[in-house]
Amino acid sequence: DLDNILSLSISPEVPIRYMNYHGMFVPDSYQLIADSIENFQIRDDDVWVCSFPKAGTTWTQEMVWNIGNNFDPNMAKTPLPIKFPFVEFTGTTTTGWISLNKADSIFPDHMSKSVEYAANLPSPRFLKTHLPFNLLPRQLRTREKKSKMIYVARNPKDVCISYYHHYKLLEGYCSTFENFSKLFLGDKVYYAPFWDHVISYWDNKENNDILFLTYEGMKKDLSSVIKQTAAFLNKSPMSPEQLCRLKEHLSFDSMKKNPAANYENAAESINASKIFGENFKAEGVFIRKGEYGQWKSFMSPELIERFDEWTKLKLENHRDLFDKMI
Ligand code: A3P
Repeated sequence: DLDNILSLSISPEVPIRYMNYHGMFVPDSYQLIADSIENFQIRDDDVWVCSFPKAGTTWTQEMVWNIGNNFDPNMAKTPLPIKFPFVEFTGTTTTGWISLNKADSIFPDHMSKSVEYAANLPSPRFLKTHLPFNLLPRQLRTREKKSKMIYVARNPKDVCISYYHHYKLLEGYCSTFENFSKLFLGDKVYYAPFWDHVISYWDNKENNDILFLTYEGMKKDLSSVIKQTAAFLNKSPMSPEQLCRLKEHLSFDSMKKNPAANYENAAESINASKIFGENFKAEGVFIRKGEYGQWKSFMSPELIERFDEWTKLKLENHRDLFDKMI
C-alpha cells in the first residue's frame, strides 16, 4: 500500500513523518512555519510566481524577474534564491522540509529563515511559492493588496517524471519510477494533490489578478509569453533586440549553464548526505531535459491510461482547464 511504498522509498536513515495540512501533503515540520506564512505581510508591488513543483518554476522566475527588471544581463547574475526567494523554504530539502523531530536537531536555525528573509526584502519583491491557493498568506488570498501572481502549470505526466528525478536528486528517494508514479497519483508527494493545486489557481484567476501560464505554452512560443507577462506587469513593450536577447538568456542551454539559475550545487548546499545519510547519493541535475511530451517514451501504455483516467475524473467539471492543459 501507499504508506508502505512511501516509507520504503525514502532513505531509511531519515524517518520522515508526513501530515495532511489542510489537504496538502507535507512533512510535519510545515507546522513550524504555517503561522508565519498565513500572516506574511503582502505589499502592493509584490510579484509572486506560484506553481506545483516541476512545472517550470525556475524558468518562469528567471523570465518574470528579468521582465520586471528591464532585462540587464549583468543584474541577472544575482542567484535566484537571493533575488527571488522561495518563501516557505526552510533550508533543508529543496521542497522545503524534513520531519519535525529531525529538522530541529539537524538545522536548528534554518526553520523560517526564508520567510524572514522574504519579509525583509526591499520592494519591489519577487517571491516564489509552491503553496496551493487556499494556503497562500491570508493577505494574498483575500486580495488586500494589489500584488500580482503568475501561476505556471504543466502536464502532470511530465511533472511526475521531472518530480521523480528531482526526488532522486534532492529528496532521498531510492525506489523505482513505477513506485513514484503510484505515490504521485495517490497524492503522497510534497504539495499533492496535483489537480487540486492547479484548479485552486484556475478557479481564482479572474478575481485575483493571476496570470495563468503553461510550460507547454512557454516551450511553443516564448516570445508571446514574454509579451503577455510584460503587459500583465504593466511594463512597456520590449524592443525586438531586447526580446531576442531575453529569449536567448531563457533558452534551455543558457539556463543549464547559468550558475545563477541552475542549482548546480543544490545537493551539496542542502547537505543531502547529512539529511539522508552517507549512503544517499544525489543523482541527476536540476535543469535536466526541458522537453514536453517526455511521457510518450518514458511511461508504459498502462501508466498513461491510469494518468488519463485520473485526469478525466479530476477535471470532470473543468472542461476549460482540460482543453488548456491536455
Ligand atoms: P525536466 O526535469 O523535465 O527537464 P521547476 O523549476 O518547477 O523545478 O521545474 C524544473 C523543470 O523545468 C525541469 O524539467 C527543468 O529541466 C525545466 N526547465 C528549467 N529551465 C528550463 C528552460 N530554460 N527551458 C525548458 N525547460 C526548463
